[in-house]
Amino acid sequence: MRVLVTGGAGFIGSHIVTALTARGHRPVVLDALLPAAHPEAPPRPAGVEWTDADLRDRTAVAGALRGVDAVCHQAAMVGLGKDFADAPAYVGCNDLGTAVLLAEMAAAGVRRLVLAGSMVVYGEGRYECPRHGPVRPGPRAAADLDAGRYEPHCPRCDRELTPGLVEEDAPVDPRNVYATTKLAQEHLAAAWARATGGTALSLRYHNVYGPGMPRDTPYAGVASFFRSSLARGEAPRVFEDGRQRRDFVHVRDVAAANALALEHLADRPAGTLRAYNCGSDTPRTIGDMATTLAAAYGGPEPVVTGEYRLGDVRHITASSRRLREELGWRAEVGFPEGMTEFARAPQRV
Ligand SMILES: NC(=O)c1ccc[n+]([C@@H]2O[C@H](COP(=O)([O-])OP(=O)(O)OC[C@H]3O[C@@H](n4cnc5c(N)ncnc54)[C@H](O)[C@@H]3O)[C@@H](O)[C@H]2O)c1
Ligand SMILES: [Zn+2]
Repeated sequence: MRVLVTGGAGFIGSHIVTALTARGHRPVVLDALLPAAHPEAPPRPAGVEWTDADLRDRTAVAGALRGVDAVCHQAAMVGLGKDFADAPAYVGCNDLGTAVLLAEMAAAGVRRLVLAGSMVVYGEGRYECPRHGPVRPGPRAAADLDAGRYEPHCPRCDRELTPGLVEEDAPVDPRNVYATTKLAQEHLAAAWARATGGTALSLRYHNVYGPGMPRDTPYAGVASFFRSSLARGEAPRVFEDGRQRRDFVHVRDVAAANALALEHLADRPAGTLRAYNCGSDTPRTIGDMATTLAAAYGGPEPVVTGEYRLGDVRHITASSRRLREELGWRAEVGFPEGMTEFARAPQRV
């Protein structure tokens, strides 16, 4: 298959290019090389066609789609950003960009799409109240966080809740601008599929980590913050009390999921989008991750600071059973091996 990988110069996209090539496909890349993501020009794998262009450039996208069988759409502005002033840039890159891509796919007759979704669409994870069963806590209040009350409480009886695993049909509840743009990408892709008879699949990634992850910027994930602190000889600074739960999934496992998803699209009903969680199914706390990474790096032990970011959710872990059962995917890289490799691998500049 000839596959257009948007964002193919990025952290996950570059691993997808490698995975697709290894499976005998022909990836082609379109990437705007956003300065926030690429302070320096990234390496280009030999023999892979590249278009240096923004998704919002219709002519460039139309050119990159020529002869393409499927699109693997990774391009996006990621992270929480600096402040709300970043909102137009997120919406422009992620949503207007996706709309232009889909319009050009419609025009070119390209009918297969795999989208980089995100577990951020769920907001808080799944919680059980001992009295009321599954409940959905509302947004976190600054006053609670200032007082060190990090755990969400039952909105009905205020009891402390137990976190569980979210499945794909859980209600969506994006809690920040980035999350909102990721959800809108899915809705746009679903509308495209209905309108054109196309087939779309969204892989809702968890916290992806591994070699080639960017250094810390407001647009990066927590694993890069910790890794960058260690590289400076500083202790990783763990926010809240360090007991917030996440699912860390290795970038090679995510790249393999994309390759499988692209191959699977032909078997799916036309006109639909189906979403799949893509995580390791082995939740860890942020504190645990910082400790494992610091030990593997041979750096100072993490410090727990009690700081917080209002847009962060407390726990978010999901079940990836659907991806395993329907696509036969498995996370192959275990947490200790993955973190040891990540501690030693160079970060992207
Ligand atoms: N890293 C994670 O943990 C994670 C988790 C969930 C979802 N995702 C999603 O995975 C995808 C890839 O993320 P990543 O971590 O590799 O980020 P990244 O910043 O390393 O890669 C994104 C790439 O997209 C390019 N890009 C952004 N906007 C563009 C535009 N308008 N036109 C052309 N190119 C553009 C950037 O230059 C960059 O090379 C994103 O869609 C992101 O939302 C990532
Ligand atoms: Zn209750």
